[in-house]
Amino acid sequence: MHRVIAGGTGFIGKYLTEKWLAAGHEVTIIGRSKQKIKDCYGDAVTPVEWDDLADDDQSILQHAQIVVNLCGVNIGEKSWTPQRKEEILTSRTHYTKLLSETCAKLSDHAPPLFNASAIGVYGLQESESHGLPIPYDETEPFDYQEAPDFLAKVARQWELKTNPAKAHGVRVVNLRFGIVLGANGGVLKKLITPFKFGLGGPIGNGQQPFSWIHIEDLADAIEFLIQKKYIRGPVNLVSPLGITQKQFAKALGKAIHRPSIIPTPGIVLKMVFGQMADELLLRGQHVAPKILTDAEFEFKYPTIDKALDNIFQPNPCG
Ligand SMILES: NC(=O)c1ccc[n+]([C@@H]2O[C@H](COP(=O)([O-])OP(=O)(O)OC[C@H]3O[C@@H](n4cnc5c(N)ncnc54)[C@H](OP(=O)(O)O)[C@@H]3O)[C@@H](O)[C@H]2O)c1
Repeated sequence: MHRVIAGGTGFIGKYLTEKWLAAGHEVTIIGRSKQKIKDCYGDAVTPVEWDDLADDDQSILQHAQIVVNLCGVNIGEKSWTPQRKEEILTSRTHYTKLLSETCAKLSDHAPPLFNASAIGVYGLQESESHGLPIPYDETEPFDYQEAPDFLAKVARQWELKTNPAKAHGVRVVNLRFGIVLGANGGVLKKLITPFKFGLGGPIGNGQQPFSWIHIEDLADAIEFLIQKKYIRGPVNLVSPLGITQKQFAKALGKAIHRPSIIPTPGIVLKMVFGQMADELLLRGQHVAPKILTDAEFEFKYPTIDKALDNIFQPNPCG
């Protein structure tokens, strides 16, 4: 099958692309630079630049089984200046709009559009002193035109840009990712260094919800959703067993055999990272994967210990 992916050079995109190539799919990657795509994959994929799509070349999508859009500037890489916040928003909305409108033009001939979103769409939850707050699921109502925090604004505006395709009958799935855990990138890559030096531990009071998914479950869930053609609209991609950030820190320390006791005070993080610390580290949301569990998707890694043991298992070759 021919599959198209935008943002296929990033952490999640690379995992999906390599999996699809290994399964024998033909893969086209849309990105900002053909050279960057070639540097990642050589001749194994067809590289396409966004400008080719903007020039109305709908044939790129016409015979695809699916198009997955993951593009957007990394939210945790640099501090959130007003300019960076604008970039975080527009790097998602601009290209999602372009893809959505291209699919709309193809209407009946368009592939399903699986567009990245994030559980941040629900807005930040207040932590409970004991245990987790009641989880949000896909039925949670909210106003797309308003947002209680920056990440909710980004995700709501991002999902709205898939409306042109939806209005033309294209099957759109808004993939609301939780924190994606995998060996070669994402949050773990950033968190692992302090842990290796024995400096890992709870962040703030550690009671903030930490809704996560193993990257292999994410890829399997996408395969599952491709087959379940009746599912459209938002789908939460998170593990079914919610944990707090403190429980996550403990599990990570255990998986890599390092202590996880040194707390990082919230006040320090706020001083260094400002609003980014508040929204990414000190608060979160507890989210349930209702649509996936109702459809009887089976998670390979439902518990954090199982997920981290898999990610950090010793490599028998190395
Ligand atoms: N990883 C997570 O835990 C997580 C959680 C929730 C939601 N998400 C969302 O899922 C998507 C994929 O996540 P990821 O972790 O794989 O992200 P990533 O590693 O940062 O990769 C994102 C991709 O977006 C493209 N990109 C970067 N800057 C861009 C810009 N200014 N304009 C247009 N495209 C740009 C890049 O592709 P090219 O350079 O080839 O153009 C890059 O490969 C993101 O939109 C992210 O917000 C991720």
